[in-house]
Amino acid sequence: MALSKPHGGTLVNRYNPSINHEDIDKQIELSIMELSDLELLAVGAYSPLEGFIGKADYESILHSMRLANGIPWSIPITLAVDHSTAKKIAIGEKARLVQNGEVYGVIEVTEKYIPDKEVEAFKVYRTTDTKHPGVNKLYERPSVYIAGPIHLVKRPKKKKFETFYLDPIETRAVFEHLGWEKVVGFQTRNPVHRAHEYIQKSALEVVDGLFLNPLVGETKADDIPSEIRMESYMVLLEKYYPKNRVFLSVFPAAMRYAGPREAIFHALVRKNYGCTHFIVGRDHAGVGNYYGTYDSQNIFSHFTEEELGIYPLFFEHSFFCKKCGNMASAKTCPHDKEDHVILSGTKVREMLKTGKKPPKEFSRPEVVEVLIRGMAEQYSKI
Ligand code: ADX
Repeated sequence: MALSKPHGGTLVNRYNPSINHEDIDKQIELSIMELSDLELLAVGAYSPLEGFIGKADYESILHSMRLANGIPWSIPITLAVDHSTAKKIAIGEKARLVQNGEVYGVIEVTEKYIPDKEVEAFKVYRTTDTKHPGVNKLYERPSVYIAGPIHLVKRPKKKKFETFYLDPIETRAVFEHLGWEKVVGFQTRNPVHRAHEYIQKSALEVVDGLFLNPLVGETKADDIPSEIRMESYMVLLEKYYPKNRVFLSVFPAAMRYAGPREAIFHALVRKNYGCTHFIVGRDHAGVGNYYGTYDSQNIFSHFTEEELGIYPLFFEHSFFCKKCGNMASAKTCPHDKEDHVILSGTKVREMLKTGKKPPKEFSRPEVVEVLIRGMAEQYSKI
């Protein structure tokens, strides 16, 4: 076995700092999510995409979870502008992609189209409820999509943990250097609690290495900030994981909270980073009660193993069982719910904010310590 081939066959590279953009007078202001998408498109994390998608791909993604050429792809990667900006830019023209006065990229505009946001919400998020953070964001975006291939001319500055930002070409080189042939990717937007650790280590029993790849792009306000999480990952790895079996680097994308569709997207992106396997546990990328516990696993049955090119490892809802005296799931534990230590994400965040420690069966004390300290520092700044 070897590392997975990039999705679509070739790792896209559209980073070109030497492109001259001085003469381009058209300009598009990027949102936080669009800037992270621009960088991820350029470094090949979204291979085979080479830019913000056009209408044929958009329609095809919404209705069949595939690009127009049939390749699986579940989340539309789009660039939204208001009507007046759209009017100023003609098809065939180039526009600078900017944020706060900095030029980060250039787009060659091939199309402009108006999305039906209700259809997009319903297809991607399975709901049109604006209480859903992904739907809310979709509805707040401007109403014209601009499509076309991009070039990244400048890497966005990383505030912290700069050395943990690796491009797919770099993670692939790391895995090869480590001699890993089977690499399991792990997506998270949370601290690594005991249940996460359990499923990661269960997976590690059957593969060569774990790629811990926390999402550090834009998340909803009540998720734990990535700077605090990063510290907790490092403490945990140092204390409880064999050094030569885990590699940590970040995934700078925005969280969509699209549950099942985002699980497919997360898997395909980790394939581009070189993973051969990908962990999908309980309610992957879910939020509130919008998705069923295993919807994010069931969606994989829409595709063949060959066309995905990354093998999903499914895990049941895991917990610590007091009677078993260890981590378990319904697959391995015969005891009642009362014996299981289960806390909701909301409950845990409330506890951490008020300095209360979740039990050691739920989260490692060293991790809890970092999180409580981090949250206290954050709230003292407000
Ligand atoms: S996510 O939005 O990034 O999916 P989270 O960081 O909580 O959220 O989850 C990371 C991965 O761990 C996902 O694959 C998720 O399904 C899985 N997971 C989280 N908690 C559990 C649990 N208690 N049991 C099994 N899998 C879990």
